[in-house]
Amino acid sequence: MTLDLKIDGPDHDNRADDLVQGVLGRENDRPDGWLKVKGTATYAAEEAIDGLLHGFLVRAPKIGGVSFGNLDDIRAMPGVRTVLRDKRMIRNAAQGMANEAPVQGVDGAEYVGQPIALVVAESFEQARHAAQSLQVDIEDEKAPVDPGSVEPEEPDDKKSSIGDLEQAMSQAAFAIDQIYTTPSMISAAMEPHAATAEWDGRTLTLRGSLQMLKFNRNELADSVGLDPENVRVLAPYVGGGFGSKLGISADCVAAALAAMELERPVRVVQHRRQVFEVNTRRSETRQHIRLAADAAGRLTGLGHEALVSNLPAEAFAEPVVQGSHFAYAATNRTLGVKIARINRPAAGSVRAPGEAVGVTAFEVAMDELADATGTDPVELRLRNIPDKDPESGKPFSSHRLEQTLREGAAAFGWSRRHDAPRQQREGEWWIGTGMAAAFRVNMVIEAEADIRLTKDGATVESDMTDIGTGSYAIFSQIASELLGLPMDKVQVRLGDTAFPPGSGSGGSFGAASTGTAVWLAGMEIRQQLADRLGCAERDLSLQDGIATFSNQRVAVAEILSNEPLCGHGHVQPGDAAEKVRQATFGAHFAEVAVSDVTGEVRVRRMLGCFAAGRILNPRTARSQCHGGMIWGIGMALTEELTHDRRDGHMVNRDLAGYHLPVNADVPPLEVHFVEERDDWAGPMQAKGIGELGICGAGASILNAIHNASGARIRDLPATPDRVL
Ligand code: MOS
Repeated sequence: MTLDLKIDGPDHDNRADDLVQGVLGRENDRPDGWLKVKGTATYAAEEAIDGLLHGFLVRAPKIGGVSFGNLDDIRAMPGVRTVLRDKRMIRNAAQGMANEAPVQGVDGAEYVGQPIALVVAESFEQARHAAQSLQVDIEDEKAPVDPGSVEPEEPDDKKSSIGDLEQAMSQAAFAIDQIYTTPSMISAAMEPHAATAEWDGRTLTLRGSLQMLKFNRNELADSVGLDPENVRVLAPYVGGGFGSKLGISADCVAAALAAMELERPVRVVQHRRQVFEVNTRRSETRQHIRLAADAAGRLTGLGHEALVSNLPAEAFAEPVVQGSHFAYAATNRTLGVKIARINRPAAGSVRAPGEAVGVTAFEVAMDELADATGTDPVELRLRNIPDKDPESGKPFSSHRLEQTLREGAAAFGWSRRHDAPRQQREGEWWIGTGMAAAFRVNMVIEAEADIRLTKDGATVESDMTDIGTGSYAIFSQIASELLGLPMDKVQVRLGDTAFPPGSGSGGSFGAASTGTAVWLAGMEIRQQLADRLGCAERDLSLQDGIATFSNQRVAVAEILSNEPLCGHGHVQPGDAAEKVRQATFGAHFAEVAVSDVTGEVRVRRMLGCFAAGRILNPRTARSQCHGGMIWGIGMALTEELTHDRRDGHMVNRDLAGYHLPVNADVPPLEVHFVEERDDWAGPMQAKGIGELGICGAGASILNAIHNASGARIRDLPATPDRVL
């Protein structure tokens, strides 16, 4: 039996607060944690498979038409089974939720690093050696690789203008008009992209490292020319994704094609440098931000216009101004994104696409306005909180920016701040504090899940993934709470397209979308139990396997006897988005030390305060926020993917050259949540938290650098040469 829900109105029921098992909203352990710690959780390239062949991707060293000089010699090398140059081999990873093959065709290389062939051999070493011996000839073609060197596209649907910003700027008591730049950045999830493909003549089974299985199955089927019915994708454990695994990737398609040609299982693992080049970077951005304010620091106009880049024919454009549409009130508004078509490696979604870099630059501009107007930065944000969506006039589903600003400021000790730079010194170090607001859109995606309840407990199934975010833990909690079972009586099975299609992990929508499907499946079972007992579902109290209703107590196992109950949940986004503006909010605070001698910046502490509806598990939610804040440290201080000026290739395409914050760079991080119930977020009233923590995090550090030393950094990252 199915319980269906279309979210097109508010749900004031607040049922989750009435349930009595007491696990939802608690800091529960992750059931998958021990498997991962002990190394028994199997990732995409870890399943032991008989007769396995190994494939190694060959990269294009230049841009241009490709030919191979010694194919016959390579094919004759020890252990080599094929050199695959199939036209269907993909150019780069698919963009998320594409449902169809990514741009295909390997006639030529459109960027340096593009996969152009797959060498398959009996052992990994044989495949790698043969791949490295392959003579690749490229007729060198000139291609634009600098976003400033081409006339950008300016799609109409990516620009909007309300009122007259020019006039607001000319009449403003205070105005900020600045350019901010952010470099290309990369995901580089801990588990490299990897795939193991098996073909039985009819069905293709692929173990991949992927985020969105129901879409990935369609993308893979389309890529290799199969019916999706004949494709099964498995990804029970995924070692991080951050957007780089939203779409089907080159390793998956190449492994599948080779397995189908050779009729043997084939594994393809990308090495770290391939992970960098082949799986979509975050576009570099150039952001023109204009702020017009009256004498009290109230915005009368705002402009946010960005230039991003991508390869020709890619649909994705970094949605830099997404958060600026609803962040602050201002009557006159001009927003837009232009796309430079260049031949750097493909750009795509990277954690919090849009807001991660857009809010960061915008919140530095807000700090400049605070400075110009002589207003406290927290106070400036408070003065500009809109009471409804500033562009559409729709109400917000819930809005707790003010509370996160006030509670965050109090917990951080913001009132002790010096309001001008160069006030506090310890030896060679200037000390300062900064803050930024956080904004992120909230989405719900169609999702389905099954629960089967037997005498022994409950089993939850969905093709949803857990990319390290806590899906296993959260769905266990939801089923446990609804069915009144201890956590160890609930088994969650994920990451297999044989299960009902979940939302996939992306856009912060996983826990709320697939979680709601699990909730609905649980509700359906509660209804069936109530029917068997002859009571109303609302009067049924379920705890530790005991059903209580109108003074009676019955063990659930007795009610079930030998007849298990099955519930199917199905949630879809309705037209809620047309009625309300839904988003998550927060505030970041940072304290830094800036060396007056070297320009080195050390982050001393950070505090984030966030509101995202009901927090389903504070431990996994906090962990997401920690990750986002740490990424903010990287964005502010070290992360920069450098492209060679001649051919656009990634110069520092590994974790030796691309500098992430390591433990020694990360100070104590404090995370607070403002408890909230968003009635428009379905029966659990939970919004997405996964990507909120990165939005604006870097700006709090950049603003703290200014408060410490007076250096205003508008070109990221704030390397010592820029700080001094
Ligand atoms: Mo996310 S960048 O939608 O995985």
